[in-house]
Amino acid sequence: MRLRIHPVSRLGGQVEVPGDKSISHRAALVGALAEGVTEIRGYLEAEDCLRTIAAVEALGVDVTRKGPGEYRIAGAGLRGLGEPANVIDCGNSGTTARLLLGALAGQPFWTFLTGDESLRRRPMGRVAEPLRRMGATIVGRAEGGRLPLAVRGAERPTTLAYELPIASAQVKSAILLAGLCADGPVSVTEPAQSRDHSERMLRQFGARLETRGLTTTVSPGALAGTTVIVPGDISSAAFLLVAGLIVADARVTVAGVGLNPTRAGVLEALGAMGARLEIAPAARGGVGEPSGAITAAGSELVGTTVAGALVPRLIDEIPALAVAALVARGRTEIRDAAELRVKESDRVAALARELGAMGARIAERPDGLLIEGGARLRGARVASGGDHRIAMALAVAGLVAEGETVVEDTDCIATSFPQFAELLNALAGEPAVTMEP
Ligand code: S3P
Repeated sequence: MRLRIHPVSRLGGQVEVPGDKSISHRAALVGALAEGVTEIRGYLEAEDCLRTIAAVEALGVDVTRKGPGEYRIAGAGLRGLGEPANVIDCGNSGTTARLLLGALAGQPFWTFLTGDESLRRRPMGRVAEPLRRMGATIVGRAEGGRLPLAVRGAERPTTLAYELPIASAQVKSAILLAGLCADGPVSVTEPAQSRDHSERMLRQFGARLETRGLTTTVSPGALAGTTVIVPGDISSAAFLLVAGLIVADARVTVAGVGLNPTRAGVLEALGAMGARLEIAPAARGGVGEPSGAITAAGSELVGTTVAGALVPRLIDEIPALAVAALVARGRTEIRDAAELRVKESDRVAALARELGAMGARIAERPDGLLIEGGARLRGARVASGGDHRIAMALAVAGLVAEGETVVEDTDCIATSFPQFAELLNALAGEPAVTMEP
């Protein structure tokens, strides 16, 4: 599939984006490990999160879809999962693969995991290594560092105090999940705060968890099923909000979005760029996760620096931020973001190459990007490289380019935000983005 985008001069209205991807994965997985029933509302029905549902089903958990985004998970308990009869395919989803490895580190049977071409390139050693220290056997390609991998959990993983070399919520979460079955407390210390959705969710399910500064310790013990309400995904909202900021005559509201401060760094970065943003926290968000409405209005943006501890709090929003930076006055520097190179694609290279083809002045750095704002973008034929967030960033850039933009290879948008084009068109009041087979 490809997207054809023509520029717009106006965007307006209020929309809701589908459920948060990170929280949806966790709800399914933690629900599967809990005792009793978990009801989930607002689950993201996009390819990545449906992979997690299929994975827990393959492990013997009974999942019922009750309606759009509504799932009932009959938890198997920490000791109730069973050996899957076939290889589990995690598709494009790094979160599925890494969190599953953690959950499986305490399951004394063999599971085989694989993924699509992109996921098979991504580093798994960062998660396999601490789990091996806890007693799991993880073997596979690239000395056990790339999918396909086979994992055999330990009957009782051993206690561990682990210092993460990089801020990674996926690795942190995998270790905490493994810790639920361990023979003593397991702690993880991060170099900077990454998203804390797992900590919040595990607490909601009754886990004994303690956080002190950048160290989180889980004590082994059973979880109890509960009700999870998933807020809208701020990573999806970011594309619509940036569109609302860069189109001159725009006022875009995204309601019901997750506002977890460990995740919402994009709002700070956009604020520093002079974005006209209004944030209205909801009186009662999803349990354990704050949410609210965010409004973005056409703004005169200025360049900024994104670096250090802010980076893990907006890592997935950098493609959207880069588009805001293109049209801002002055220079934007993105540093300390080498992790971008091992996401669904090498996002540093992809943004520099594809936005560059649209006339952006954007240079690749080993750990980020240097963007000279104020460029006049021109429509071009560009390609996502199979990466959903690159595809959406290019489409948003197309809204303010001169002439028509064609983004090739956009099936990948369905991994996180299948309604992207539809919602953008609703805000534009016209078919600004059309899908072609
Ligand atoms: C995620 C964590 C982040 C993020 C990814 C989802 C999660 O990766 O980029 O899209 O749900 O835990 P890291 O593990 O590198 O923080």
